[in-house]
Amino acid sequence: MTAPETIKPALAYGWLTGFYDPVVRWTTRERTFKSHLLAQADIRAGHRVLDVGCGTGTLALAVKRACPEAVVTGLDADRGVLARANRKVDAAGVRVTLIESRADSMPFGNGTFERAISSLFFHHLDRAAKQRVFREIHRLLVPGGELHVADWGRPGNAVMSVAFLSVQFLDGFATTADNRHGLLPALMQEAGFREVEATRHVNTPCGTLSLFRALRA
Ligand SMILES: C[S@@+](CC[C@H](N)C(=O)[O-])C[C@H]1O[C@@H](n2cnc3c(N)ncnc32)[C@H](O)[C@@H]1O
Repeated sequence: MTAPETIKPALAYGWLTGFYDPVVRWTTRERTFKSHLLAQADIRAGHRVLDVGCGTGTLALAVKRACPEAVVTGLDADRGVLARANRKVDAAGVRVTLIESRADSMPFGNGTFERAISSLFFHHLDRAAKQRVFREIHRLLVPGGELHVADWGRPGNAVMSVAFLSVQFLDGFATTADNRHGLLPALMQEAGFREVEATRHVNTPCGTLSLFRALRA
C-alpha cells in the first residue's frame, strides 16, 4: 500500500499558517486580484459556489459578502487552516459551509455547483494532482458551469521571473514549474473544460498572478 500524499500547508509549513493572511495581503496585491476574480465569476443569487483550497476563507467570504444569496462552500484539506476560516466566518456572521477534504476526491455528487473558484491553490499540487483536481472540478460542475482560477502564471517580464523565485523557494520547484511555464490552461482543457482563457495578469511583489476562466460544456 502506498502512503497517502501529504498536503502542503498555506505557507508551506504548518507553523507559519498564523502569518498567512497578513503575508498574502501584502505580497500578492490580494484585494486587487481577488476582486477581479470575483467580478469575472459573475456569481448570482442561488448559485452554488465551491472555493477549492479555500485556506483561511478570504475569497469564500468575499463571495458571500458580494452575493449573500449565493450558497457558498469552502473546501480545504488542512484542519488548522479551516479552524481559522471558521473563526472568520463566525466573526462575519454569515453562512459559509467549510469542508475538510482533499481536492482530488471531493465529497459531492456530479453537477453540484454552478461555479467553482480557486485562488493560490494549484501551485501547491504536482502535475498529476493538478490533473486529478481539474477532472474532479469538471465532474462537480453543472453543464454550463464555470471555473474561475487565480494562481501564479508565466512571469510577465524578467523582474517578475526573478520575483517568482521567492514563491518557488518557499513552495517548491516541482509543484510551481507548471505555473511558471503557463501550463494551467492546457491542463484545464485536458480535463474537459472548454473556452479556457486567461482573462488578466497582475504583477505582484512575488511574480505574475494569472486569472483564468473555463467552461464546463
Ligand atoms: C496558498 S493557500 C491558498 C488559500 C486561499 N485559497 C487563498 O487564496 O488565500 C493553499 C491551500 O491549499 C490547501 N491544499 C493544499 N493541497 C491540498 C489538497 N490536495 N486538497 C485540498 N486542499 C489543499 C492548503 O491547505 C492551503 O490552505
